Amino acid sequence: MFIVAAPLGTGKRIGDNTCMPSTTAASSIACVAAPLSAVDVDLLIVPWFDDEGASAVDGLDAASSGEISRALSSKEFSGKTFDLFAASIVDRSWRAQRLLLVGAGSSTAYRSELARQIAAAAGMAARNRRAARVGFALRKAGDGAVEMAQAVAEGLTLSEYNVGVYKTGDPAPPAAPRWTVALTEQARDVADRARAALDRGRLLAECSNLARELANEPGNALTPREFARRAAALASDGGVKVEILDEHRIEELGMGLLLGVARGSSEPPRLMVFRHDPPGAPAGPVLGLVGKGITFDTGGISIKPADGMERMKDDMAGGAAVACAMRAISLLKAPIRVVGIVPATENMPGGRAIKPGDILKSAAGKTVEVINTDAEGRLILGDGLWYAQQLGATHLVDVATLTGAVVVALGKSTSGLFGTPPEWVEHVRRTALRAGDRVWPMPIFDDYREQLKSEIADFTNTGGRPAGSITAALFLKEFSGGLPWVHMDIAGTAWAEDARPYLPKGPSGVAVRTLAELAFTSSEWNFRT
Ligand code: BES
Ligand code: MN
Ligand code: ZN
Repeated sequence: MFIVAAPLGTGKRIGDNTCMPSTTAASSIACVAAPLSAVDVDLLIVPWFDDEGASAVDGLDAASSGEISRALSSKEFSGKTFDLFAASIVDRSWRAQRLLLVGAGSSTAYRSELARQIAAAAGMAARNRRAARVGFALRKAGDGAVEMAQAVAEGLTLSEYNVGVYKTGDPAPPAAPRWTVALTEQARDVADRARAALDRGRLLAECSNLARELANEPGNALTPREFARRAAALASDGGVKVEILDEHRIEELGMGLLLGVARGSSEPPRLMVFRHDPPGAPAGPVLGLVGKGITFDTGGISIKPADGMERMKDDMAGGAAVACAMRAISLLKAPIRVVGIVPATENMPGGRAIKPGDILKSAAGKTVEVINTDAEGRLILGDGLWYAQQLGATHLVDVATLTGAVVVALGKSTSGLFGTPPEWVEHVRRTALRAGDRVWPMPIFDDYREQLKSEIADFTNTGGRPAGSITAALFLKEFSGGLPWVHMDIAGTAWAEDARPYLPKGPSGVAVRTLAELAFTSSEWNFRT
């Protein structure tokens, strides 16, 4: 048994965290369109550009009795991105008690992507200062203010995530503050739209945080069955129709790839099926989201080295992104039909495990020679992509911590984007960029397909070291049924190994917002397929 005693004296077992109440019940972000002096908070965050003087924000320098001009002239603070400078507000005609400047770099380069990161970084700093009521000055006027408001709400909400959920000794992590976003006075005319954008950003980032909670759970707590239970709870709580298929149903459907990977484990696999069917939605297009749900990847018989294997608990981050995106899609009332598919299993080297050389038959009918049992993600996704089509998907996106090779190619900040046709890839790329998920397109030339040739079956499951992330994508393409399909390889981005100012060590929640926002862009899917 792998049950351990509960953290925080709650009497709960590991596995009892439902991942829900903490954020479901969370309050919204308040919005004020008033002079900064009227913003009634304990701590007021103001982004500060490196190309502006002390008087750039009306009355602020004087309210801090000249602390800003002093810091700027002594070079204690210059507005360098993510640098922080705190001061008291002494002018009692101001409502805020304290001031936190956060460096925002050049004012001409200030975009929502940076605003999201600045809000996350300053939000974490505000929490660590134990501020209960925190304001954020938007500092962007006109039309851009709406997009900026959403990004800031996302950043502030992302800053609420706690990674150390199982610590029993430390003091409890600082509570989430009550956030207020202050619009510039010029942005008053868009206040209603900004308010809606704040709600949207808050909800999207709450769903990102739910995905982070799931990815952070250890393999002994988050078995395939437990993953399915929690994902079903958070999605159906958001209004999504959920079905969990057990091992018998999976066998009836002929999913030999998913069953093959599951054979090595004593935990049975699950297939999660999420449906968003808004009343009155057109029959098509239907967005099909498929996420890799390996709750722990030992590599199977082709076992991984011990060093760093503990990280493989997050090999279900793509599946978590799909489940949490479905929740957002439903709560935000996306206008189109969406199906989400998450095949979930452990990849273990048990006595009944698949072996190199074994041949598996997919639900789509194609046969696969397993060369390396550690290339398990593409196997389960093959059956998942097939099932999304069975349920009527017309446009496919899969998300997976699929290859170490993509980390070699693009590093830890950028996910690899693969797919066809190029217009669909480009559309997903733009959507991801807006959502704050850094992605970059990779080629999938047919030539690489050679590497998957098998003497005995339709193809192998690995193509050797060269272009490893590309041959993995080409494997998936075999199961895309000729539909517009994009594959997002998040092996490098799902987990932050080193803390960044805006992202603590741990799960990042990557792809949740991209997938959710995609469901609102179908009017732009007018390329020829
Ligand atoms: N889950 C891993 C990929 C991975 C590696 C994710 C590093 C995060 C960090 C995947 O199942 C895997 O093991 N891929 C193999 C494929 C190989 C055997 C062809 C890899 O990348 O080494
Ligand atoms: Mn693997
Ligand atoms: Zn894996």
